[in-house]
Amino acid sequence: MAVDKRAFVNVFDYEAAASETLPKIAYDYYRSGANDEITLHENHNAYERIKLKPRVLRDISKRDLTTTILGQTRSMPILVAPTAFHCMAHPEGEVATARAAGTAGTIMMLSTLSTSSIEDVMSEATGLVWFQLYVYKDREATLSLVQRAESAGCSAIALTVDAQIWGRRERDIKNHFRLPEGLSIKNLMPAGREQFPKEQADSGLAAYVTWQFDPTLSWKDVEWLCSKAKVPVLLKGVLHPEDARLAIDHGAAGVIVSNHGARQLDTVPATIEALPEIVEAVDGKIEVLIDGGIRRGTDIVKALALGAKAVGVGRPIIWGLAVDGEQGAKRILDILRKDFDLAMRLCGCTSVEEIKKGLVG
Ligand code: FNR
Ligand code: LAC
Repeated sequence: MAVDKRAFVNVFDYEAAASETLPKIAYDYYRSGANDEITLHENHNAYERIKLKPRVLRDISKRDLTTTILGQTRSMPILVAPTAFHCMAHPEGEVATARAAGTAGTIMMLSTLSTSSIEDVMSEATGLVWFQLYVYKDREATLSLVQRAESAGCSAIALTVDAQIWGRRERDIKNHFRLPEGLSIKNLMPAGREQFPKEQADSGLAAYVTWQFDPTLSWKDVEWLCSKAKVPVLLKGVLHPEDARLAIDHGAAGVIVSNHGARQLDTVPATIEALPEIVEAVDGKIEVLIDGGIRRGTDIVKALALGAKAVGVGRPIIWGLAVDGEQGAKRILDILRKDFDLAMRLCGCTSVEEIKKGLVG
């Protein structure tokens, strides 16, 4: 699709175009939240309720957007959150996303439920890639995913801890969500677990998760994973400060404050509302990242001011991919970077270190 960049000035413009471009079943899958989507709206609306208190008369002519996460310095504190089935948005799928993230000098989190294999993505990735892990009942297959990710060069594992059973996404149920012909969960092909079950379930993905994901996942598995992994392990999907403390005790190198894009348990807090308690509980001992509803540079400034080291964006990357493939995903990252740069400077800040709690009122 030839994109007139003057018409696509923010991530919402890309979402509007993606809603026209994507088949309904795909757009519905990507946009859905759980149940009544109360938290889906809250994830972004909560940012609008937080006010910024900028400082003035500070030289903002030069600034540095870089940040360091798990000892890895990146161009900006904006990461690509793991989202599934990118080839449903664009034929180049996760490979295009990885190239865009690399060009932007940031980190892509690659989903277990990728429609491109770890190896294919990593052969094209030019930046850092973390592997997002789902734990299967088949622990051998699970461990093989970790070993393949590490061998291919992934520099961290993000263990998703909020989705061993599936949230109720009513559009997927109504649409009888299935992967389009020719697409599969490529990483699970060696284990023969690459397709949704044949049974005529409402949501094929929900049926797959019930069939394959291990609902017994518990803290002993975090210790197991940390003992097996050669790279740092972060826990993605933590909302409670007690769980953040347990993450430290069980060897995690970081937590991602996330409600899975509001796709799991509806009426949980917006992630930005859960962040401060978790930052306090962690007390600087491990990294704290956040995702959910981040659409503007001011959202990123607020997240960092409230203690996040970096943010992850999910759906906006999909919208960019759907509209214009790698260039679209790259443009989304550029828009967010420029918006963050502007918001930071208008707050009187010239580096991420200067973005402190006093900026939010
Ligand atoms: C996700 N998310 C997700 N999380 C995860 O750990 N593994 C996954 O495979 C996926 N897949 C996925 C697909 C789609 C379509 C969405 C919208 C979300 C959750 C994702 O990593 C992240 O937590 C949210 O997307 C962040 O919210 P925003 O930026 O989408 O509002
Ligand atoms: C989702 C997955 C794949 O939320 O995590 O759809």
